[in-house]
Amino acid sequence: MYTSKISGLGSYVPENIVTNDDLAKVMDTNDEWIQERTGIQQRRHIKKGDGNSTSVMGAKAAKIAIDRANLTTDDIDLIVFATLSPEMYFPGGGVQVQEMLNMSTIPALDVRNQCSGFVYGLSVADQFVKTGMYKNVLVIGSENHSGGLDMTTRGRSVSVIFGDGAGAAVVTRSDKEGSGILSTHLHSEGAHAKELSLEGPNTGHWVPEIIAENPQEDIPYYPYMNGQFVFKNAVVRFSEVINEGLQTNELTPGDINMLIPHQANLRISQFVQKKFGLSDDQVFNNIQKYGNTTAASIPIALTEAWEQGKIKEGDLVVLAAFGSGFTWGSAIIRW
Ligand code: ACO
Repeated sequence: MYTSKISGLGSYVPENIVTNDDLAKVMDTNDEWIQERTGIQQRRHIKKGDGNSTSVMGAKAAKIAIDRANLTTDDIDLIVFATLSPEMYFPGGGVQVQEMLNMSTIPALDVRNQCSGFVYGLSVADQFVKTGMYKNVLVIGSENHSGGLDMTTRGRSVSVIFGDGAGAAVVTRSDKEGSGILSTHLHSEGAHAKELSLEGPNTGHWVPEIIAENPQEDIPYYPYMNGQFVFKNAVVRFSEVINEGLQTNELTPGDINMLIPHQANLRISQFVQKKFGLSDDQVFNNIQKYGNTTAASIPIALTEAWEQGKIKEGDLVVLAAFGSGFTWGSAIIRW
């Protein structure tokens, strides 16, 4: 049995910054409400004509991660692409990245686990590497939320939270015992699928039907979120899955050097930080700058933390995510 490690990280966000004040110009909201509830100050939105899309951003982040791993695209054996906002209904973004990066006929797998997508993808990569089937797996999380949000007052409780961007990691075979990805832990609970969802259009329920069935003010092709219910479940599941990871490896919260929570909402991260008694140095947050970028949020945050020298060799890094599905997961990494 091999071990696996993260050998390269990269991220990309569009240049276009959208502040809370910018949003207040198109919907009834304000900076104070958004910052108080979510901690978000600004986010990035793809601008029409800037050339970005979910897979373009994913490819840009991937290229950086592959370079930093001192590899070339020819070294990658598998692409795992996580998103809830693919630019095509099918095929998925993985094959598009493969084409953009001029890669050979390696497999490309798409993961549909929303905010937990990157942790799920990392777990898939980890299994393939540990069994010896693949040597280098590229894991990408990328989202173009701005293209699918209701940017009117009707959609404000969801639209102010989400931003665009991409992050990527290369998972590489290693033979160093006790280091790298120590374990991953995944869960889901379909009973709450509709509490954070985008129902239509879907197969058997296409746009004309949806429009005919619904009054103009209630069209279900914008995301729906039961905010308080999501919040309550998130804080419980984040805590459970971090504990599960620590206990599996006979570790305690005091062993954590860096917790990178999915950037759902700064208040959720702060709740988890307090619950585990962690200092500000032990938790990384950048939702203030990017909003919630769903599958991209953990790899963007992990990349920034690493770029800022906040993750060093030997550190215990914990990734934890919760989101639509509900799905949740954690990864325990000895860097
Ligand atoms: N600006 C101003 N007012 C707003 C806005 C806005 N953007 N959005 C809603 N409001 C209003 C509401 O209409 C409501 O007004 P009312 O009292 O007159 O009816 C009031 O603010 C309070 O609304 P609530 O929805 O009750 O506000 P709450 O305190 O629950 O905060 C929030 C909403 C921020 C969404 C919160 O529930 C939350 O953070 N939930 C977790 C959501 C989350 O983290 N989701 C992402 C995780 S999963 C994933 O990443 C996919």
